[in-house]
Amino acid sequence: MAVNGSNDAILEIDGVHLSFTGVKVLNDVSLSVKRGEIYAIIGPNGAGKTSLLNCVNMHYRPQRGRILFEGSPLNGLKPHQVAALGIARTFQKVELFHGMTVLDNIKLGRHVLMKTSVLGSIFRLPNVVRDEMRHREEIEEEIIDFMGLSSYRYAYVATLPLGVRKRVDMARALAAKPKLLLLDEIMSGMAVEEKEDIATYILDVHRDLGVTIVWIEHDLAAVMDLSERVCVLNFGTKIAEGTPEEVQKDAAVIEAYLGRQRKGPMAGR
Ligand SMILES: Nc1ncnc2c1ncn2[C@@H]1O[C@H](COP(=O)(O)OP(=O)(O)O)[C@@H](O)[C@H]1O
Ligand SMILES: [Mg+2]
Repeated sequence: MAVNGSNDAILEIDGVHLSFTGVKVLNDVSLSVKRGEIYAIIGPNGAGKTSLLNCVNMHYRPQRGRILFEGSPLNGLKPHQVAALGIARTFQKVELFHGMTVLDNIKLGRHVLMKTSVLGSIFRLPNVVRDEMRHREEIEEEIIDFMGLSSYRYAYVATLPLGVRKRVDMARALAAKPKLLLLDEIMSGMAVEEKEDIATYILDVHRDLGVTIVWIEHDLAAVMDLSERVCVLNFGTKIAEGTPEEVQKDAAVIEAYLGRQRKGPMAGR
């Protein structure tokens, strides 16, 4: 698929190849996410979904292909530079500091914003800096409130149930005021009620904060329910893309899922 460079694309992935010591993980993957979209990436375990997100935030360096955010290439940037441009993510295995409070974890997420303005602050008057600090505290409070975490503000992350920890992880990501949020299997391990709960938060973030969402998810019912478009990866290759209705009917997609079932599930990552 050719990258069109059009303004309504917030994220463009163009011909990405990724290998680890001879093992091909992503094979010529291209996709384009529109601004304001909820875009899902699905596929069997080991398909390369997490690796693709790792390429977007330049944690992994693709050997070939380009990744553009708002029309500018991300290739060559460091992960913190990508974050500062407005791309935040949550992780498949929650990577919060469990011995710290909810508030302190969220403050760490906001650090991305601070780093970028350190130089600017040095040359500014103290009261300007103070205003900025106050503004940041307001952002934290808004996010804590928005994510329903007010009563957990001073709780240690280690003491919280999984569903709440995932919300803290989302709040940490949102503290950087992203334009694009990448979610990696945020529902995994959750009970049905917790899944419904987090689905509501995803929709709120999308609608009320205007954040574009790219999410990897195993719960296909949730994917079909929430996503505007779905991309299907299998063995590092994009095998389908379209509306939930379209991909559900796609013969290659059905084979990818049923084929794996016949052979037994692969070890997950
Ligand atoms: N850092 C790495 N080193 C070597 N192989 C990796 C690395 N990261 C991912 N892989 C391999 O890439 C393939 C895809 O993994 P992953 O992207 O985690 O799949 P998914 O998220 O779809 O389950 C797997 O075979 C995995 O072992
Ligand atoms: Mg994964």
